[in-house]
Parts: sequence; C-alpha cells; structure tokens
Amino acid sequence: MNHDAIGVFDSGLGGLTAVKALNEILPNENIIFFGDTARVPYGTRSRQTILRYTREDIAFLRRHPVKMIIAACGTVSSMLGTNSPVEDIPFTGVVWPAAQKASEVTENGKIGVIGTPATIQSSSYENALHTINKNIDVTAMSCPLLVHLVEYGYTSRDNKITRLAAEEYLTPIRNAGVDTLIMGCTHYPIIKEIIADIMGDNVTLLSAGEEAAKYAKSCLEKQDLLTDRTEPGHNIYYVSDSVSSFRENAKNFLQDAAHGQVFSSRI
Ligand code: DGL
Repeated sequence: MNHDAIGVFDSGLGGLTAVKALNEILPNENIIFFGDTARVPYGTRSRQTILRYTREDIAFLRRHPVKMIIAACGTVSSMLGTNSPVEDIPFTGVVWPAAQKASEVTENGKIGVIGTPATIQSSSYENALHTINKNIDVTAMSCPLLVHLVEYGYTSRDNKITRLAAEEYLTPIRNAGVDTLIMGCTHYPIIKEIIADIMGDNVTLLSAGEEAAKYAKSCLEKQDLLTDRTEPGHNIYYVSDSVSSFRENAKNFLQDAAHGQVFSSRI
C-alpha cells in the first residue's frame, strides 16, 4: 500500500483525459498532473527535442512524491518506445495499453490509428499491434491540425473547421474498413463526437489516455501500491504557462471545472 500520488504528464491538456479516467476508476488516489502548456505541441518537433522535454517533465514530477508516472501523451510514449524512463517506480505510456485493448476488441482485424506527425512517423502503434498479432491490418494517419484545434477550444460537435479537418484525415481510414480506431493522441477524445459521426456507429473508438489509466490501475493493484484511504483523493495541476487559460480549457477535457489547486510552474 502506498499513499503517494500518481504523476501524470502531457505536452498540454490532452493528458487530462487520463486524469478524468483515473478519478473515475481510482477515486481515492491523489493525482499530480503536469501539462507543458508553454511548449505544446510536441508532435511536430524532432525526436531529440521531444525526449529532452520528456526528461524535464519527468524530473518535474519527481520533485513530488509520486508512486507511478503516466506519460499521458501519445507523442512522448511513441518516442520512448519500449524504454521506461524511470527505474524505481512503475511507468506507463499510452501506446501499449491502447494497442492491447484494440487487439482485444477488433473483430475484423482492421485497426485505424490517428496521432500526431511524430507518433505516426515512429510507427509506434503499428509496431505494438504487430508485436501482439502480426496479422492485424493497420491504417495510420497523421493529423497535424487536430491538437491545435482542440487546444484552442474548437471542440463542439458543430464546429465546421474541426469537422472539415477530421473528415480529411479520417476518410481514408474509414474507407479501409477498420472496425476499431485508436485515438492515439490524448487530445482527440475531446472531439470524439465529430470523430464518431465520421467513422460511423460500427467503429469502436478507443481513448489512449483512458486505456493507460486502466493499465495503471492494474499495475498498481498487482504491485500492492494502491492507497487504502477511504476519503476522495485530490488533484493538483501544474502547467508551464497561464493558469487562467488552463482553467478555461480544462473544462473541455474534464467535462467539469478543474477541482483542485492549479499552479503555474517553470520546469
Ligand atoms: N497529447 C499529445 C499526444 O497525445 C499531444 C501531442 C502534441 O503535443 O503535439 O500526442
């Protein structure tokens, strides 16, 4: 048993999709979230830069008592591959948990993946899926505009700009006949309604952040690291840019106001 917090980080606010899931499935755990809002997006940057930012994000979280770290970012997880950046506490990214779930739910063996340019260029999801089952047919698409649209709050179902961009990216995947789509960037579930409209009812949409949260729960359970507190846990949020814009945008991701303290912090 361990009462320390679960540390979660992302380039921006997308990782809040994992925080929301953690709050639902582990309501007594404390969460410390870091969103590198001053440097988002990561997904259009070089591997070296993303890995440097990743080291800095993890070092920031480790200044706090955390018992596990979740890289709630498809881009960071893709750059790390199967390497864990921490040795003394459990760690997960989002790629493997999402790939595992997708391989379980697909019926026709055709899986779509959408992600940032860095994620798709790395073939991380494809590699993970093919390690699990080499016969899975993967159609992957880089969606460079979607993180920007989501961070700017262009997220409502009737937003014409976001819908147009999503149609452009998703049409080839829909035409490939996939029955499962991994939203491989943690920002994308915020526009799930638009994505679902385009993909149709028969396609299962998987949130990479949510799958990582479920994986974290089973990992903490197995290692006997869950808290036995009975009172609700607290979230503390740190961002590298403005607190007020975090509070405004976080509502979109958490589907509620960000309950908990929010600090702006240099890393
Ligand atoms: N949430 C990040 C991801 O999952 C956004 C990427 C970015 O910063 O470009 O990939």
